[in-house]
Amino acid sequence: MKVSRRLHQLSEMVRDHYSHIWDCCCDHGLLGQLLLDRGQADCVHFVDVVPALMTQLEAHLQQTYSGKRWQVHCLDVARLPLSNYTQAGKPQLVIIAGVGGDLLMDLVTAICQSQPNVSVEFLLCPVYHTYKVRRALADLSLGLISETLVEDKQRFYEILHVSAAACEPVTPVGNRCGTSQIRFT
Ligand SMILES: C[S@@+](CC[C@H](N)C(=O)[O-])C[C@H]1O[C@@H](n2cnc3c(N)ncnc32)[C@H](O)[C@@H]1O
Repeated sequence: MKVSRRLHQLSEMVRDHYSHIWDCCCDHGLLGQLLLDRGQADCVHFVDVVPALMTQLEAHLQQTYSGKRWQVHCLDVARLPLSNYTQAGKPQLVIIAGVGGDLLMDLVTAICQSQPNVSVEFLLCPVYHTYKVRRALADLSLGLISETLVEDKQRFYEILHVSAAACEPVTPVGNRCGTSQIRFT
């Protein structure tokens, strides 16, 4: 499957195996399919608010990934039902990418505030307002697991992997987003 450099980098930043990974605002679900291919989770969840997209994606997954565990959810990411899938000691990974920073932070805030006792890691890639996103993540007491910068079609994207269990602070400007990560086409 051919995917953008940004989506490829996001998939590469999923290093651990998770019980549940949520590909949120998934559109055609390309990132979740990469993670299914790589066997990164017991179950990959695809979430978007557009019913027609989700119907089409479900049909595709039934044809292509009949032997793997996945679920399609047509719902607002702010209402993600993480607490229905908790397993003791195992964090779930929530990925939100390809949406603006303001929406992304509204979604992360809603998830954190509605389900404070669920163990969750976030992998985030906003398309704008990364500085604001970083400040908001720090305000939510989310700490940094890893971060990187990726160039894709002459645009730069920051990717942040964060969780409440991580101790390293999220800084307003990425300390670890070194130029060594930058690749030009
Ligand atoms: C540009 S696509 C991003 C696709 C993919 N995540 C990526 O990084 O390329 C944005 C998607 O977010 C979805 N979306 C926007 N707000 C949402 C919300 N509150 N809950 C679920 N999906 C949402 C839209 O329907 C759209 O399919």
